[in-house]
Amino acid sequence: MRLLIKNIGQLIGIEEKGTWKSSFPKGKEMSTLGVIEDAWLAVEDGRIADFGSMTSFPGVTDWAGLELVDAENCVVLPTWADSHTHIVYAGNRQDEYVDRIKGLWYEEIAAKGGGIINSAMKLRDMSEEELWAQAQKRVEEVIQLGTGALEIKSGYGLDLDSELKILRVVKKLKETNDIPIKATLLAAHAVPPEFKGNTDAYIEYVIEEIIPAVAEENLADYIDIFCERNYFDASHTALIMEAGAEHGLKAKIHVNQFSSIGGVQEAVKHGALSVDHLEVMEEADYASLKGSDVIPVGLPACSLFLSIPYTPGRELIDSGTSFALATDFNPGSSPTGNMNLVVALACMKMKLLPEEAINAATIVGAAAMELQAELGSITVGKRANLILTKEIPNFNYLPYAFGSNLIDRVFINGKSN
Ligand code: NIG
Ligand code: FE
Repeated sequence: MRLLIKNIGQLIGIEEKGTWKSSFPKGKEMSTLGVIEDAWLAVEDGRIADFGSMTSFPGVTDWAGLELVDAENCVVLPTWADSHTHIVYAGNRQDEYVDRIKGLWYEEIAAKGGGIINSAMKLRDMSEEELWAQAQKRVEEVIQLGTGALEIKSGYGLDLDSELKILRVVKKLKETNDIPIKATLLAAHAVPPEFKGNTDAYIEYVIEEIIPAVAEENLADYIDIFCERNYFDASHTALIMEAGAEHGLKAKIHVNQFSSIGGVQEAVKHGALSVDHLEVMEEADYASLKGSDVIPVGLPACSLFLSIPYTPGRELIDSGTSFALATDFNPGSSPTGNMNLVVALACMKMKLLPEEAINAATIVGAAAMELQAELGSITVGKRANLILTKEIPNFNYLPYAFGSNLIDRVFINGKSN
């Protein structure tokens, strides 16, 4: 199977050798988005084989197995890399959404047994097959929305069997889909009813029982914890990251969603891969991220849905850090897997330039899953996971026309359906 796309209005996300000082952009580099106007791109064996300006268009002599696509007035870009989702969940929580419209606050709903615990009770009762079927539909939906790499967390099980059930579903999703998927163990997402009032004992259970069992079956790539007031504190976060590290699991941490309680500092100290949410940031949080390799991840669809502050992406980039964008797709705080919307929100609400938001949602998102050598930019040899837009004036139109579906085709390993 070979693919040749010609007359591309703009081919964007080009990463020539040496584009970034390290393997993904940081600070000022975030606004560099390689662009070729009027371009072509060739795919062979699922990988980007070559690309260039139409002035150097290769004449086709061998048409065997070649699909030729004319992309005049269209944009071609790498697929989105969504580094933070909770796609494996049971049912939905649309009634809590209505409760919030009527005036209840997210944390009040959780205190009444709603929220994460509500999802956990539904999930414990659901068979692995049904859970997989629901999650598979969501994976198919996000691929059609242009996502070509995905991280999925557990965290709606909150006991050994149910956390294993979720991660086995993720394993099956890895096997049944052509996009790379990374699994994260988030058993420390909330304290389940069995451990109510005894957070320390639950953390001990996660460390003694759940982490070793998950590692034994090799079901997780990363470890996570919800470091937040009324959930888990910075010392629990340190313990969980240390226990994960003993089993080779790097940390990706939920932190500073509603309060700043020292989790960012612990994550930096423990060499976490990413710190996610960061809606509430204090000086000390900026200071500890500055100069570290930890990737801050903003989740603006969650801010929109819960009416909470937006992560200060502009300030983080200006302070010299890198920045990734992800959906946080989950039933409680962000029931969407739409990365196009996330990119638009980052431009409108965090004041990112389209170049910065697109880098944050592609190459840096890939880096937040350690996939930057594999995808996330237009580079010879990388996977041909590509978005072909409908006819649009230029890439600024992507976040600008935020309510439109601008995707014509999504190619995964050079193939589209
Ligand atoms: O990332 N903040 C913690 N976890 C999820 C929401 C969980 C839920 O409400 O189901 C999040 O926003
Ligand atoms: Fe999350």
